[in-house]
Amino acid sequence: MRIMVINGPNLNLLGQREPGIYGDQTLGWIEGELRDLGSELGMVVECLQSNHEGELVDLVQRGGRQSQGIVLNAGAYTHTSIALRDAVAAIAVPVVEVHLSNPAARESFRHVSYLAGVCAGSISGFGWQSYALALLWFARQAGGGTCKTMVEGQAI
Ligand code: DQA
Repeated sequence: MRIMVINGPNLNLLGQREPGIYGDQTLGWIEGELRDLGSELGMVVECLQSNHEGELVDLVQRGGRQSQGIVLNAGAYTHTSIALRDAVAAIAVPVVEVHLSNPAARESFRHVSYLAGVCAGSISGFGWQSYALALLWFARQAGGGTCKTMVEGQAI
């Protein structure tokens, strides 16, 4: 199973960007953790980032052709981008919306997600572990939803 993890604008600055909100971990570190977790779960995790809306549309379309699922943190485009919503709606593979912070507990302009309605689900507020939870969901989906997921030899 191949899963694409797509990060949007300003997420390349993780580690130095508002660490009180987004944590101390860099995007490179998070991507390494997700690739490691992915291999424990029997999946290949491909990590991509762009600051550009059109490029993110291209990446979502590519994920629709080349992966079995997408974990998407669209950053601020979550709250503004109809183009990205249309891209998610246009592909056949499930997309899980993730956020490090909990947008519902922040400024009102972050309360609207243009993506939520076309995603399989949304996971927010657990820092980098929001992404890990999304990978676990994909692993269980692939197992038919009934089997246990194996992490470091343990069934969870
Ligand atoms: C974010 C939340 C967005 O509101 C914000 O614009 C981001 C990061 C998050 O991961 O918490 O860039 O998507």
